[in-house]
Amino acid sequence: MTALRHLTDVASLPEETFRRLLSRSLTIREMMDRGSFPAPVLDRRALVNLFFEDSTRTLMSFEMAAKRLGAHTLTLPIANSSVKKGESLEDTVLTMCAQGADYLVIRARDQGTIARAIDVIEQEGFLASVLNAGEGSFGHPTQGLLDAATMLRAIDRTPDQGLTGYKLAICGDVSHSRVAASTIEASARLGAEIVLGGPVALLPDAPPPGVQAMTSSVAEAVSGADFVMTLRLQKERMTKALDLSLEEYHRQYGLRHEVIAAANPGAFILHPGPANRNVEITDALADDPARSLIRSQVRQGVALRMALLEEIERGKSR
Ligand code: CP
Repeated sequence: MTALRHLTDVASLPEETFRRLLSRSLTIREMMDRGSFPAPVLDRRALVNLFFEDSTRTLMSFEMAAKRLGAHTLTLPIANSSVKKGESLEDTVLTMCAQGADYLVIRARDQGTIARAIDVIEQEGFLASVLNAGEGSFGHPTQGLLDAATMLRAIDRTPDQGLTGYKLAICGDVSHSRVAASTIEASARLGAEIVLGGPVALLPDAPPPGVQAMTSSVAEAVSGADFVMTLRLQKERMTKALDLSLEEYHRQYGLRHEVIAAANPGAFILHPGPANRNVEITDALADDPARSLIRSQVRQGVALRMALLEEIERGKSR
């Protein structure tokens, strides 16, 4: 069995590792819900967060997960750091490694940042692991994994049983979303049928691998779905403004109870957050306890990141 050292994306995870991470995250989630936690296998390890873009959920859940497992956690305040004096990514990463970082959790704007960090660490002979916490619109692998685990949990399936026979509709700003990229990878690996729905300007030019169909009609995408995920308008990554007011966007593409009436009875709603309430989703739907898995996603995120850290740590000890 090849030990996992870095997490770059979902696609490059070996199948066995992919399923083990999901399964372990579901077990840890059960433990959390009973008020217990796994053994502190990261005792005295140092986990450093390097977040070049803003975050609430991912940053705090890596912190929470690492602390629950016994690690020390540190977050470089980028805005007050030597990055602002022009220090390169490579020098920043090597400085953290020289100070003793065992894990570097990196969120970046530019595609290729994670690979550059891994290259320089390995070239210089450091043993730190790099975990992708979201890279441009390229990928957000821990989010993709936690979304898959959340869906499995909601229908009481194991990773081996997968999502075959279930339809996932991903709606809204897909083309700028790193979450969509990773959630598609993870859900497709579990056998889900995946359909994308949203404005043509915010959909990819062609369906990505694993996606069965794309449509500009959210109602059509949602029809017969068991899971409906909606995504935020990611203005920070748009190169030209969307030619629609927020009100009109909501009217045409927003999720409301009447829109998801076309989904399967009991269909679940997901949103990776942060949500623009009453733009891509109504308050009523986001907060509907019978439908919304939004809080469940957040909680599963802590469990998934604990499972990931445990998995890598086991490899370090072999
Ligand atoms: N889902 C997600 O990545 O949220 P944050 O940007 O708050 O981390």
